[in-house]
Amino acid sequence: MYDQECTNNLDLVGRVVATEKCPNTAQSFSFWTNLDSPVGIGTIVKIESDKVHYEHRQDRHYRREVFGIVTEGISYTDLDSPLNDYISSDYEPLSSHFARTERPEIRYYTASVLKMDPEEPVQPVPIGNVYLATDSCVRKSLRMDSYEKTKLPVGLYINGDNQSPVYLDSNFLLGPEAAHLNVTGVSGLATKTSIIEFLLTGISQHYKCDGGIATVLFNVKGYDLLFLDQPAEDLSEAELKMYEKLGIKPEPFRNVKYYAPFKEDGFNLNTHRTNEELVADVNPLSWGLNEIFDHVQVLLNKDDIDAKADAFLSLLKERVINTDKQDQCYCVYEKVKDFNDLEKWFQRVFAQIEGEEEGSEGKTGWKGHATATIRKVYNRLMNIKTRCKGLVTNTSDTHDLPWGNFEDKAIYVVDIANVLPLAQDLVFTRIVEELKTRLEERTLGVDKVIVFVDELNKYASSDSGNSYLKQTLLEISERGRYLGLVLFSAQQFKSQVHKRIVGNCGTSIYGRMDMDELATQGYSVMPASVKAELTVLEKGKLLIRHPHFNQYIFVKFPRPPVLTSQKGAKKFPPAKEKGFEDAMVMHFKRLDPAIKANDVKDAVHGVEPEEVMRAFNETERKGMHKPMEYFKNILRKKPPRNSFVESHSPAAGGTTIDDWLSD
Ligand SMILES: Nc1ncnc2c1ncn2[C@@H]1O[C@H](COP(=O)(O)OP(=O)(O)OP(=O)(O)O)[C@@H](O)[C@H]1O
Ligand SMILES: [Mg+2]
Repeated sequence: MYDQECTNNLDLVGRVVATEKCPNTAQSFSFWTNLDSPVGIGTIVKIESDKVHYEHRQDRHYRREVFGIVTEGISYTDLDSPLNDYISSDYEPLSSHFARTERPEIRYYTASVLKMDPEEPVQPVPIGNVYLATDSCVRKSLRMDSYEKTKLPVGLYINGDNQSPVYLDSNFLLGPEAAHLNVTGVSGLATKTSIIEFLLTGISQHYKCDGGIATVLFNVKGYDLLFLDQPAEDLSEAELKMYEKLGIKPEPFRNVKYYAPFKEDGFNLNTHRTNEELVADVNPLSWGLNEIFDHVQVLLNKDDIDAKADAFLSLLKERVINTDKQDQCYCVYEKVKDFNDLEKWFQRVFAQIEGEEEGSEGKTGWKGHATATIRKVYNRLMNIKTRCKGLVTNTSDTHDLPWGNFEDKAIYVVDIANVLPLAQDLVFTRIVEELKTRLEERTLGVDKVIVFVDELNKYASSDSGNSYLKQTLLEISERGRYLGLVLFSAQQFKSQVHKRIVGNCGTSIYGRMDMDELATQGYSVMPASVKAELTVLEKGKLLIRHPHFNQYIFVKFPRPPVLTSQKGAKKFPPAKEKGFEDAMVMHFKRLDPAIKANDVKDAVHGVEPEEVMRAFNETERKGMHKPMEYFKNILRKKPPRNSFVESHSPAAGGTTIDDWLSD
């Protein structure tokens, strides 16, 4: 008896054919179908061999099974030449309204092998019946039965009425076997950001990782990732059914935290998520000397950091910045912990150089470093504050990501859409480097982090330039898997991204693409019919390449369960830029929503903004139990908020205001 499980329930659609001119191989085969069979490019089929084999070891009969995916289709009739048809139509199109001769017509498809059963020995595909794949065939053909416990839904394989879930293997998407994901396709139609949001939803609901997993998303475009905690408003019935079939609840993310630098004024947040209802969970991001000094290379271009400047920077790092040892020899009389201290230190050095120069006939150096080099480094370093205003502060009061306290399944969105490219580079590099170090030391709070970088071609382009940021991204793609640092990336043109970065992505997703892009070298291995399909792909349909799948697979996914950027921008329009006092009210409400606006305004009125920020930052660090009281206690130079009439009332002084003024 041969095994005939489930074949009885399958739709028989055609027969495998092989000729001497067009033989079957172990990788591909051909078959015909009748004209109304629902078979097309991308359809998964199952072949059952005609011949029954006998297995000695198991003492059973079986038929060979082959699963394949259609990659090419042609159709033709027995007509020898178009001339014959022309003549038989009496040279008149009207007369051929109905064919004079009904000719046999064939649909002839070529398919690539997805899986054979048994896998060994590797043999050409046998002749047999062709069936449409069911859910269980799809599961088997894509080897999804081998990773039931680590599966993550990515979309549905759709053929006619049949919708079968397709899963990725988290061991191959998030490590340790393989890692990284890249999505490519034209703007808008490829739904790149959407599939990332959808996958992250699946990960947040299904993925289990002992040490916990967090996600850091960099928002580089407008409102793109600013409403991840808000529910989608109009998912259709069909989409909700897709969610059900994929086993995902259509709910927004629960634990999302937003971070954005300040604007140039130093108190308004530089983000579009400033609507009163949402601004409470946006945290500021601002760094001082300490945070950025290790990454100053990002901010200095190649010409700036020649060997001499590099040596001087090393001296700063070793002897000056943040050292506890006071060293008069190096002009360090107090701890240099922020840009203000560094400025003072440089001034001391310049004074010393000038002093020496007077006495020593034009001595032009200090501790072996040329004055020109010192001045250059000074200018470049101090320039950082101007170029990254709002992100880099003079003082050591900083706001940062919750290093050490990252939470499982939390999403940290860093909004850098509105800052200059230089500051964007700094944010990327610092955060990714810090993630790397902390994952290595296991001091982050979670064991795994997904980092999402949109517009990858901007940050890691394939041209020859070798930026610091590109090196960082390269390193994640090459070493991240060991550390638990997984790179999710998206871009419009994959051909413009550094080869080694995309080459290391275990999983690739393609949305609608341009012919020009598909004609580039990187797509030469893709079958022509798949390329043709890609150029007309509808929204929500994607092509997947995953280590378990032997061929490219098309899937469809529903819109993500979060508010879209367009709708979000309308529903939660950003608030107008605030004056200083109102901005402080907003920041205090972030600490404690119960704080009254008037209390804040009274407290900060007339005080220098810098002093208010200092006191506020200290409150945030130390006085969170009673923020308003703590703030008032530590605020210096607070003038009484009494009106002139009250403080100089005639009753108190026996004079009128006019008398007082004329005095
Ligand atoms: N599964 C889907 N089915 C149908 N439409 C979708 C689906 N997912 C997203 N869309 C729609 O497609 C549009 C573009 O989506 P998205 O922002 O993800 O594109 P993108 O490829 O990231 O574009 P860009 O390159 O400009 O960032 C959105 O308006 C969204 O509503
Ligand atoms: Mg996008």
